Amino acid sequence: MAKGIELKGVSKVFRHPERGDVHAVKQLDLTVQPGELVTLLGPSGCGKTTALRMIAGFENPTTGRILIGGQDVTDTMPNRRNIGFVFQNYALFPHMSVFDNVSYGLSVKGIPKVERRERVAHVLDLVGLQGMERRFPNQLSGGEQQRVALARVIVTEPSVLLLDEPLSNLDAKRRVQMRSEIRRLQRSLNMTSVYVTHDQEEALSISDRVVVMNLGEMEQEGTPQEIYAHPESQFVAGFIGKVNALPAEVVRVDRDEVTASFGATSFTVCGPSMSIAVGQRVSLLIRPESVDLSSEPDGPAPKGRIVQVTYLGEKAEYDIECDGTQLKAVSFDPARHGMFAQGQEVYLRMQGGSMILTDQ
Ligand SMILES: Nc1ncnc2c1ncn2[C@@H]1O[C@H](COP(=O)(O)OP(=O)(O)O)[C@@H](O)[C@H]1O
Ligand SMILES: [Mg+2]
Repeated sequence: MAKGIELKGVSKVFRHPERGDVHAVKQLDLTVQPGELVTLLGPSGCGKTTALRMIAGFENPTTGRILIGGQDVTDTMPNRRNIGFVFQNYALFPHMSVFDNVSYGLSVKGIPKVERRERVAHVLDLVGLQGMERRFPNQLSGGEQQRVALARVIVTEPSVLLLDEPLSNLDAKRRVQMRSEIRRLQRSLNMTSVYVTHDQEEALSISDRVVVMNLGEMEQEGTPQEIYAHPESQFVAGFIGKVNALPAEVVRVDRDEVTASFGATSFTVCGPSMSIAVGQRVSLLIRPESVDLSSEPDGPAPKGRIVQVTYLGEKAEYDIECDGTQLKAVSFDPARHGMFAQGQEVYLRMQGGSMILTDQ
């Protein structure tokens, strides 16, 4: 039976005699539903690993409580929490075969030999390593070693699976393959999982829910679609995908709409989460794929000049200078739609409905 995880007001302060205190995690409140996969996403040093290690019990929180399956485990030893932890560097036993690496956790638990053999064979089958039982870690590729690390954890049937940047040592192609395999296994075994990564694409592709962290705090949480389409801050918008920030001034405030001007063009944006006043300087955020370029004006549209064209096969990326602001636009399938040239003047068609208004 899958168990949920709850973090209530969890903080971690590392005391440094010289550097002063490091507030690695600040007042983190997080609920992971049974069977759910939640990703902690954020830049290096934002506290992801520390949060994960506290769930595992490798670190004690400075404040707050941690519950697994409704039970307070804050003071419970790691080996009593029934968690599985997949490390970034695999942490396999180099002198043990694949079989022994995977069955180790079962031996420790005193599972009889016959059952051990069966369970190890089943799990190696699940992760696609059948036939490799006798090999040693140094006879395996990075991807295969990561599968052993995963098998070793899954075989113990943990209530909770914790993964710390498990794919960062693999090349790009293997990463994409392994992340969908991890997701498939996680779903079919219904394992409650917390997955740590700094890779936004990985987070979007693998998660039920994404928690974006910055400087030890949760910036925003939501489904991948919510986080991408409705970022609540420039940090989240910029960390997940690319985003343009148009400097603008508020010219009108209605009940659930705000109109702001960027140069000579006004855009009406719906429902900002913050309070706002006429005259205020704000940023209008818009994704490059929501900026359409055209050589003819079609209603009021800012005019810009293309300063760089990057052809990427399936898409073309444009850097555009517009009223002293650098903007990016992307157009897909350029072979079909044609491309603009460097130096060309273009009109930028943007809809207020694709924009998000934030503080400047
Ligand atoms: N054992 C430790 N002792 C002191 N400082 C630490 C320790 N572990 C992490 N930190 C500090 O806590 C902050 C968060 O680190 P970490 O959780 O590893 O971030 P992330 O995994 O997001 O890169 C960093 O400033 C890091 O230097
Ligand atoms: Mg880390």
